[in-house]
Amino acid sequence: MTEQERIVELRHELHQHNYNYYVLNAPVISDQEFDALLRELSDLEARHPELADSNSPTQRVGSDLNQEFETVLHVRPMLSLSNTYNKAEVAEFYDRVREGLAGEDFEICCELKFDGLSISLHYEEGRLVRAVTRGDGVQGDDVTANVRTIRTIPLQLAEGTGWPRSFEIRGEVLMPWASFEALNREREAREEQLFANPRNAASGTLKSKQTAVVAERRLDAYLYYLLGDEVPADGHYENLQAARSWGFQVSEHMRKVRTLDEIYAFIDYWDTERRNLPVATDGIVLKVNSQRQQRALGMTAKSPRWAIAYKFQAEQQSTILREVTFQVGRTGAVTPVANMDPVQLSGTVVRRATLHNADFMSDLDLHLGDHVLVEKGGEIIPKIVAVDEAFITPDRGPRVEFIKRCPECGAELVRFEGEAAWYCPNETGCPPQIKGRIEHFVSRRAMDINTLGPETIDDLYNRHLIRNVADLYDLTVDQLSGFNDNRIVSARKTVKAIEDSRQVPFERVLFALGIRFVGETVAKTLARRFRDIDTLSRATLDELLSVNTIGQAIAESVIRWFADMNNIFLVERLRSHGLQFQLSQETLAAQSDRLAGKTVVISGVFVYHSRDEYKALIEQHGGKNTGSISAKTSFILAGDNMGPAKLEKAQKLNIPIVSEDEFLQMIG
Ligand code: IVH
Repeated sequence: MTEQERIVELRHELHQHNYNYYVLNAPVISDQEFDALLRELSDLEARHPELADSNSPTQRVGSDLNQEFETVLHVRPMLSLSNTYNKAEVAEFYDRVREGLAGEDFEICCELKFDGLSISLHYEEGRLVRAVTRGDGVQGDDVTANVRTIRTIPLQLAEGTGWPRSFEIRGEVLMPWASFEALNREREAREEQLFANPRNAASGTLKSKQTAVVAERRLDAYLYYLLGDEVPADGHYENLQAARSWGFQVSEHMRKVRTLDEIYAFIDYWDTERRNLPVATDGIVLKVNSQRQQRALGMTAKSPRWAIAYKFQAEQQSTILREVTFQVGRTGAVTPVANMDPVQLSGTVVRRATLHNADFMSDLDLHLGDHVLVEKGGEIIPKIVAVDEAFITPDRGPRVEFIKRCPECGAELVRFEGEAAWYCPNETGCPPQIKGRIEHFVSRRAMDINTLGPETIDDLYNRHLIRNVADLYDLTVDQLSGFNDNRIVSARKTVKAIEDSRQVPFERVLFALGIRFVGETVAKTLARRFRDIDTLSRATLDELLSVNTIGQAIAESVIRWFADMNNIFLVERLRSHGLQFQLSQETLAAQSDRLAGKTVVISGVFVYHSRDEYKALIEQHGGKNTGSISAKTSFILAGDNMGPAKLEKAQKLNIPIVSEDEFLQMIG
C-alpha cells in the first residue's frame, strides 16, 4: 500500500471510530489505539502536504490562530418558532393545524427543544462543506472551521448508507452540563468571568476566533431538521431516522403522536425528566410530521404554521430575604448580594442570589423580611425575580438601600458615566482590591506564579508582607515559610517561580498590571504597537485611539492609569527587579509593517509553510487575513490547486495572485 492509500484508509477508519465513540458511545478500540492511528495519519499528512484535507480527522483539534468569519446568505432562510407557555395555547395550535388540513389525518412529531444555538450544515457528496450560524435568519456566520472540531458532527459520511448527494441538515450546537461546569470551574480558578449558562458558553465558544479553543471546550450537537430536494421520505421523523443511520446524532427522545392528550403526556414527562439529561433543554417542539402537510400549512413572515415551541416554566420558589451584603471585587466594583433563608431549587440549596447592581436592586424594591421569588432558569446563578406581594404587610421591614461607602475601607463610592456599577475608588488602600490585583498578577495567563493561591496571598497580606505586586519580588524564603519547616520546600518553589517570572514577555506583564479594560488581547495589541512601557506611558489619547480595536473606554483607562504616580513608581520598582517592559528582540525582529493596510486571502496547498503559519506571518507583518475575496482584497496568497471559484472571482475583480515564493520575498 502506498502512503497515499494509507492516508485514505486511515481517514476512513478514524471517521468510523469517531462516530462509534462520540455518537454511538460504543468504541470498538481503546483510546491508545485511536491515538496511535491518529498520530500515524498526522505524520503521513505532514509528509504529504499536497493531500491536505480540511475534513481530515486530524483537523478536529483546531488551531490557535485567529480566523475571521465570513457572512454568508442562507440557502433557505432559517425561521424561528413561535412560543407557547401553557397547554391551552398548545391546544389552539393543534386546532389550527386540524382546521388548516381540512379534516385530514395528521401526525405530530414531539421533540425536545435543545437550548443552544442553531446551526445549518451543508453536505455535498457526503462531505461537510459548510456550517453557518443562524445569524438574522437570512444570513449568518460561516463557522465551518470551528464546527469541524465538534466530534459528533460527521465530516465524511460512511459510504452506502443512502445519503443524498446534496442536502442541508439543521440542529443545535450545545455545551453539555459536564463540559459547562468544568469550564466554569477553570474560569473561576483563572478569575475569568463565568458563563451564565451552557447556551452562552456554547455561543461564545462557537464564535471563538481560535479553533483550538473550540476543540478544547467539547461542544456537542443534535440535529433536528433535514432539508433538500432529495430527502428520503415525506415524514420528518422518518428523515431524521435515516439521517441517524448516515452518522448524525439525532435525539432518541422524539415521538410521533396523534392526539392532544399524547402531546400533553410528552410535555408532562419531560417537564421533570429533562433534569436527568446531559444537556440543557428549555421546552418541547411540536411539528406536523408530513412535509406535504407542512407545505399545505405554509408559514407566516417569521415562523412556520406547522410547528410550535412549548417553553418550560423556570422553576421558582418563595423564601425570605434576611440581609443584603456588598462585595468588592478586584476592580473595586461593588456587587449587592441577597442572603435568604435556604430553599431547595432545581436540585440545589439556594441561600444567596446576586442583585447585580444598584439599579437592578432598586427596581425590585426590596425590604428586609420580604418574601421573594427566586428563580433558576437557564441561568446558573439564582436570581430574585420579584417580591411576593401577597405577603406584604403594613409592618414591612426597612427598604434595602445601596451603600454610599465601601464596606471594606470606608471610601466614598463613585459611579462612572454610562456604567451600572458603583466603584470603590481607593485602589491602593482597599484590601480586596489590593489582594485581587495581586491574585490577577500571579495568575497563569499573566505572570504564572502558580504556587501563590488566594489563601497564601491573604496570609501574606495579613502579615503585612505585601501591599502591591512589586513587594512579591522582595519576599524571602523565611518570610514565605514563616520559619515553619514544613513550608520550606513550597516557599523555595514560590521564590523560584517569582524569579522565573522576570522572563515573562512584555505583553503578558502589561496584562498582569491589571489596567482596567486591558485584557490579554488588548495588552498584546498595545505592546506590539508601542513596543515598550515608556512609549506607551507617553501615548496621547489620539495615538491610542488610532490603534485598531482600541476604543474610547480603553484609551481613557490607559491614560488614567499612567497619570497616577503610584503606578509610575510601581513600574519603576518592577523594572528594577528585572521585569520585561519592552518587546523581546525576537518579537521585534520578526515584526514589520511590510503588509500594513493589506488584506490577504489564502488559498490552495503550500510547500514551505502550513496555512496557519502563513496566517501568522501575515499578522506579524501588519497585514490582515480574511476568508473571502472581495473588492477590498489586496492580493491572494495562492498555493497549488487554488479553488476554481476563487480563481474566477479573483480574475473578475482584478486581484493580484501572489505565489508562495513571491510572498516570502515580500516579507523579507
Ligand atoms: S425546529 C422551522 N427543533 O429553537 C423549524 N428547533 O425557537 C426550525 N430548537 O431556532 C426549528 N430544539 O435553535 C427545532 N427540536 C428542535 C429544536 C429547535 C431547539 C431551537 C432552534 C430554533 C429555536 C426556535
